[in-house]
Amino acid sequence: MKALVLYYSRTGVTEKMARTIAQSLQEEGISVDLFNVTQFPLETLPSYDLIVVGSPTYYGTMAAEVKKFLDESVRFHGDLEGRIGGAFASSANPAGGNETTVLSILEALLIHGMVVKGMSEGSHYGPVAIEEFDRRAEEECRTYARELARLTKALRPGKEGQ
Ligand SMILES: Cc1cc2nc3c(=O)[nH]c(=O)nc-3n(C[C@H](O)[C@H](O)[C@H](O)COP(=O)(O)O)c2cc1C
Repeated sequence: MKALVLYYSRTGVTEKMARTIAQSLQEEGISVDLFNVTQFPLETLPSYDLIVVGSPTYYGTMAAEVKKFLDESVRFHGDLEGRIGGAFASSANPAGGNETTVLSILEALLIHGMVVKGMSEGSHYGPVAIEEFDRRAEEECRTYARELARLTKALRPGKEGQ
């Protein structure tokens, strides 16, 4: 089972979230690749069972760099059916658009036919950090990663990019 954690970050908050999610997935026994989205080799996208994408909130939505990746992922449209997906975001303000950022990423993953995971506790659509990567955000990232790992193991046992 292979996971991809992609992020964009200028001041480091979203990167810390990405690193924490990647580390927690590894602790669950999943092999993980972590990339800044601007350095991701797109041709490897179909090799992942789980794809988690994070962005800072820019004007209430994802950074242009993340949108560019999603637009370019059309090259693999149809190939990601049934893969597991997740999203996370950071923002400066509590209601500064972090939920809309997460949802706009999840919309694209759904259009790929992916299965996305919500959370009944905490941030329902995916982890969010507000202003800083604090203990609450860290715990959310860890819990989300554990739940994504469980779902991936249940839905894609023994599969690697198939
Ligand atoms: C161009 C730009 C637009 C932003 N727009 C918003 C916004 O709409 N709402 C908000 O709460 N924060 C906004 N921010 C703040 C960032 O979302 C926030 O600082 C984020 O945590 C940065 O993530 P990073 O440390 O991973 O780069 C904006 C920042 C920039 C540079």
